[in-house]
Amino acid sequence: MNIILLGPPGAGKGTQAKRIEERHGMVQLSTGDMLRAAVKAGTEVGKIADGIMKSGALVPNDVVVSIIADRIDQPDAQRGFILDGFPRNVAQAEALDAMLDKKGLKLDHVIQMEVDDEALVERITGRYTCGNCGAGYHDTFKPTKVEGQCDVCGSHDMVRRADDNETTVRSRLDTYYKETAPLLPYYKERGNLVQLDGMAPMDQVTEEIENVLAAEQRLGG
Ligand code: AP5
Repeated sequence: MNIILLGPPGAGKGTQAKRIEERHGMVQLSTGDMLRAAVKAGTEVGKIADGIMKSGALVPNDVVVSIIADRIDQPDAQRGFILDGFPRNVAQAEALDAMLDKKGLKLDHVIQMEVDDEALVERITGRYTCGNCGAGYHDTFKPTKVEGQCDVCGSHDMVRRADDNETTVRSRLDTYYKETAPLLPYYKERGNLVQLDGMAPMDQVTEEIENVLAAEQRLGG
């Protein structure tokens, strides 16, 4: 099964993608994670992406489309994939359609999570992760038990994303409404859009996604 998780920054795409990956053996393909890895490694793609990501704008389509085209070809993606953060505009969606057509693959669901803007800003500006094991925390909702120390691995290496400050989050939201929101009518017309309440508790969102995936499996997808 191949799905897209769609939603504004902080909607819970990464959180839910990891849960689906664990339960269903599908692979999470996050263009944001891939671009951050490229920035960290100092590659050519990373040099292009760095400043753009800090501003909250979109990295050029040809860059992300080529990253995804390569990634979809990898053996682990043949078990099914969860696109997290791609496509982000209609040109990327059209490129994805062409890519899937060429490979004889189909898109089963586009699942969108809706969340209020102010809740998104609060979620993102308080978010941090352990730089060693990747465990996620939040200043208000999920602080570490001992300040500055990871509950899971004990590391003191806590990291915040360079684009997780309020100014950039608001710019990322503007970009979402201008460039990504037009994907909703795009996928609605194709009949595979499912919209969920992303304000619900995480476990409830997971359950609703599971219901969507189970319905697909009952149909033999
Ligand atoms: P990307 O990395 O994709 O970031 P994003 O879309 O802004 O999304 P986030 O990762 O911030 O949030 P999320 O929806 O995954 O939420 P999460 O699960 O972490 O993109 C970053 C940048 O890269 C872009 O701005 C752009 O420059 C570039 N880029 C990436 N893809 C591109 C593309 N295709 N084209 C061009 N440029 C591209 O959750 C957030 C927080 O909320 C967490 O703390 C979590 O614990 C909490 N939370 C989650 N769910 C709930 C819930 N139900 N209730 C309460 N809290 C919750």
